[in-house]
Amino acid sequence: MPEPAHSFMLTIHVNGVERQVQVDARTTLLDALRDRLHLTGTKKGCALGQCGACTVLLEDRRVVSCLMLAVMAEGKQVTTIEGLARGEELHPVQAAFVEHDAFQCGYCTPGQIMSAVGAIKEGRARSDDEIREQMSGNLCRCGAYTNIVAAVRDAAAQGG
Ligand code: FES
Ligand code: FES
Repeated sequence: MPEPAHSFMLTIHVNGVERQVQVDARTTLLDALRDRLHLTGTKKGCALGQCGACTVLLEDRRVVSCLMLAVMAEGKQVTTIEGLARGEELHPVQAAFVEHDAFQCGYCTPGQIMSAVGAIKEGRARSDDEIREQMSGNLCRCGAYTNIVAAVRDAAAQGG
């Protein structure tokens, strides 16, 4: 199918790899990742910036990708849930979520994990209260919050 005239090619670095992606000026980063680059680990929950399911790292800072235009990521480093593990070895935050049984249906989990990775990198996971505050933008309909906090606390203690 030919691309509409107002679409253009964007270069973004996703999980350490330079990717070219054809987007519309209004395409969100979330849709570019999921629909164009087929990185469906990042979830679409509300598409309104309210649930955190679409959280990714942009230059190591947490962003809700449903509220960000893909063009704003031009030339930048984006990290998604697919970029955390090193081969078969889980990222420490992923391993802690498994260890602490910090999910039920798992729909919110990629966003929770990306948010936790960002909070730990920022040095903002020093207590349970701080973890709860920093993770407050990530909703979990299954109510796995107690185990999520335990997992983040553990991962932060190990240096994340
Ligand atoms: S899908 Fe982005 S915050 Fe809910
Ligand atoms: S594990 Fe189901 S929404 Fe969080």
